[in-house]
Amino acid sequence: MHSFAYRANALFTFGVTILAIMCVMASLSDNLNTPSPQAEIEVLNINWFQRQPNGNDEVSLTLNISADLQSLFTWNTKQVFIFVAAEYESEKNALNQVSLWDAIIPSKEHAMFWIHTANKYSFVDQGSNLRGQEFNLTMHWHVMPKTGYMYADKKVISGFRLPEEYK
Ligand SMILES: *[C@@H]1O[C@H](CO)[C@@H](O)[C@H](O)[C@H]1NC(C)=O
Ligand SMILES: *[C@@H]1O[C@H](CO)[C@@H](O)[C@H](O)[C@H]1NC(C)=O
Repeated sequence: MHSFAYRANALFTFGVTILAIMCVMASLSDNLNTPSPQAEIEVLNINWFQRQPNGNDEVSLTLNISADLQSLFTWNTKQVFIFVAAEYESEKNALNQVSLWDAIIPSKEHAMFWIHTANKYSFVDQGSNLRGQEFNLTMHWHVMPKTGYMYADKKVISGFRLPEEYK
């Protein structure tokens, strides 16, 4: 006759094994899903544009950020972290990446949205390179799964340009 402890141990081992198998299957089946997220970003207004006393250019934008990220959500998705960045080249840096806005999408129900917003984080250059500067706006997403690996991707929207004069 098996002791209680032996049975409890056997049951526990069985439970853990099943759980491990389910986790592996969850991450594998999740990889079969090919998401097709959509994102658009428009600059609705240049609110102000100035050189700070320390010589760095700063601009305030009003953006319309719209996205349909529903396809990133599977039953294995815990949440999705998104951020919008301005990316441009300057003499000092081959790539400047300035984060302007971010959000956490907790569920599929919240994954299709548009928001009319000013930049949440300052758009400041390390110098005075912003007048007439061409830039891209990128939407980055980091998909955090319940089990398995996090993955990240982005959409680039190019062809923006800042004014030649401060305002
Ligand atoms: C923002 O973009 C969405 C989707 O393109 C559009 O439906 C909405 O009217 C826009 N809002 C503004 C304030 O431009
Ligand atoms: C902006 O986007 C264009 C087109 O995708 C790309 O060729 C260019 O390298 C991008 N610029 C930066 C600074 O990432």
